[in-house]
Order: sequence, then C-alpha cells, then structure tokens
Amino acid sequence: MAKKVKIGIIGAGNIAQNAHLPAYLKQDDVELFGVYDIKESRSKEVAERFGFKHVATSLEELVTMEELDAVSVCTWNNGHAEAVIAAAKAGKHILCEKPMAMTVAETEAMAEAVRAADVTFMMGFVNRFRTESQIIREFADQGKFGEIYYAKTGIIRRRGTPLGWFTDLSKSGGGPVIDLGVHAIDVTWYYMGKPAPISVSATTYNKIGDYKTKGVSRWEALDTDDLVFETEDSAAALIRFENGASMTVDVTWAINGADRDIYSEVFGTKAGASLNPFVIYGEEGGYLTDNKPIVTGKNMFDNQIRHFLDCIKTGQQPIATLEDGMEIQKILNGIYESARLGREVQL
Ligand SMILES: NC(=O)c1ccc[n+]([C@@H]2O[C@H](COP(=O)([O-])OP(=O)(O)OC[C@H]3O[C@@H](n4cnc5c(N)ncnc54)[C@H](O)[C@@H]3O)[C@@H](O)[C@H]2O)c1
Repeated sequence: MAKKVKIGIIGAGNIAQNAHLPAYLKQDDVELFGVYDIKESRSKEVAERFGFKHVATSLEELVTMEELDAVSVCTWNNGHAEAVIAAAKAGKHILCEKPMAMTVAETEAMAEAVRAADVTFMMGFVNRFRTESQIIREFADQGKFGEIYYAKTGIIRRRGTPLGWFTDLSKSGGGPVIDLGVHAIDVTWYYMGKPAPISVSATTYNKIGDYKTKGVSRWEALDTDDLVFETEDSAAALIRFENGASMTVDVTWAINGADRDIYSEVFGTKAGASLNPFVIYGEEGGYLTDNKPIVTGKNMFDNQIRHFLDCIKTGQQPIATLEDGMEIQKILNGIYESARLGREVQL
C-alpha cells in the first residue's frame, strides 16, 4: 500500500471543512493527523467529525508533531504568514489558502522561511485546477492563441458580501479585491503565461456597505459576531504587463447590477478563450468558430489536493508556486495603493 501522507489542518473553518477535508478524504494515501484552530472547541469538533488522530492546542504543537508531513493553512488571511512560517521552520510541506497573505512584506518573510526549509509550498489558487483552465493553458502552450495581448476578468455579486471576519480589515487585509479579485486575476494571469506586472491603476468604493437586503443568501464565516465593515465593496483595475499586455478587472461584493460568477477572457492574435461560459473563439477555413471543448470530471478542490499530494511525493514544482503567490500579492496591494493615491502606481 502507498505510504500515507500525514496531514495537519491549521484553521478548521468553512473552507477546511467544506473543501480541503472532503478532498483529502477522497484520497487513499492520506491520513488526517492533526488539527489546530484558535477556537479549541472547533478543533475538537472537527477532529471528531473527520477522524483526526490528534488535536493540537497551539500552532507550535501542531507543526512540530514529528510524524506530520504537511499542512493546509486555512485561517483568516491575517494568520497565513505566521502559520506558513512556523510550518516551514518545522520542515512541513504547505498548501496555503488564497490570498498568500495581507501584505507584500508578509509574503517576503514567508518566502524566506519556505526557501530556507526547502519544503513543497503550493498556493491554493484553486481556479487553476479547473479542467477548463488546464485546456486553456495547453492551447496557449501550443500557440493556438498567438500573442495574448489583452484580458478581462472579474466576479460580480449584486449582494454577496460575506459575513464575518471578511469585512474586518485587521483580519482580511481587504474586501472583494483580496477575496474574489485574487481568484479572477490569478487565473487570468495564468492563462496569459504569467507576464511580469509593471503597473496598476485602480478605484475602490464602499458605497453599499453593510446592507440589510432581504431574500438573499451570502457566504458566512463560522463566526459572525462583532461584525464591522471596514473594506471596499467594489473595485475596478487596469493592470499593465512588461510584454505590453494588459488586464482589466471588475470585482464586487455588492453593486446595483447583474450578478456574474467568475469570468476570464483572454484575447490573442490568433484566437481567444473564455472560462465561463467556456468557449474558444477561433477561425477555421476562413470562418469564425466557437469551439466548446467538452469537460466532465472532478471538481477543482479535489484536483488541487491531488496535485499537492503528488508534488509532495515526487518533489515536482506545483502548478501554483510561492513566486506566483508573491506576484499576485503585489498586484492586489498595488490595486489598494493606486485607489488610495488616486493614480497609477508602478509595481
Ligand atoms: N479557495 C476558495 O475558494 C476559498 C473560499 C473561501 C475562503 N477561502 C480562504 O480560506 C481562509 C479561511 O476562510 P473561511 O471562509 O474558512 O473562514 P472561517 O472563518 O469559516 O474559518 C477560519 C477558521 O480559522 C480559525 N482561525 C483564525 N485565525 C487562526 C489562527 N491564527 N490560527 C488557527 N486558527 C485560526 C478560525 O477560528 C476559523 O475556525 C481564508 O484565507 C479565505 O480567503 C478560500
């Protein structure tokens, strides 16, 4: 039987319980080894429900468990840096939820610890693990799009502000830019071949804020007491890249317009692609064509967890790297900086 990878969870809330843990449980080569949440009752509940061997009462206790191989970091955004640094120093492999951190300085400290430890570090940029994303990347690598020079991406929620720590700046580091924009920007940048970002011009607004709209549901963190609303609720940005390409981004938690789930469109000199709806816009025999490759299969969280385990076992570089997390953080923080200053900023 294959050797089991012993997994620890740091932060046992919604994403841990609804995405990481169900995906780990589907794998034959995983043992759920230890769990740590700042809320001890939650660590215990989750340990019991998912069958963890150990409950840790501190971060240090979890990451220094000798037999532990790897951790999923699923805390609020303000806990990512501390957890990643502690896990790296203890020599554990790391899957870090998005965003990598709240600031560029934090990502630099994380990178230093990870590089010194020589462990596998993978960013939880889960949209890269959609089968559609892999097809778009494959087609890009085959040159089917020609030169990708422009892209449009975003996620529009009419009333979809998450309840809980998300709107508390000290815990989240930002609103829809850092929560949703991170997905849209990352996956689009990945399709574009990860060109170096050079500048950002952006606006952010907090106009709808803490609404009381009836009849709509929203993502809830597990704790929703002490609510504050300190972040933006919508943002728009133009990102320029060294190779001359550009990307426009629209992200909202609340706006008076139509909902639109994640979309990403890349435009090349030979063809273009759209993630959602999934279409390859091309030409054949002199005619315009819309190709819709058939996609069935696993969900992106399952693909992400499988890839993480394979990278640990083989030592291969993950699809979503430390450096990718750092580049995306530069863009996210550049958006906030540009909005604050009211002008374009260089990255
Ligand atoms: N990939 C995705 O699509 C996706 C979706 C939702 C959330 N997320 C990310 O997952 C992370 C968690 O979000 P959530 O929705 O699960 O929130 P949540 O509030 O439901 O869960 C977070 C858990 O972490 C615990 N926690 C907070 N700080 C901690 C610390 N320093 N050490 C240990 N435990 C700590 C909390 O007590 C809570 O149980 C965030 O970074 C978020 O951006 C990703």
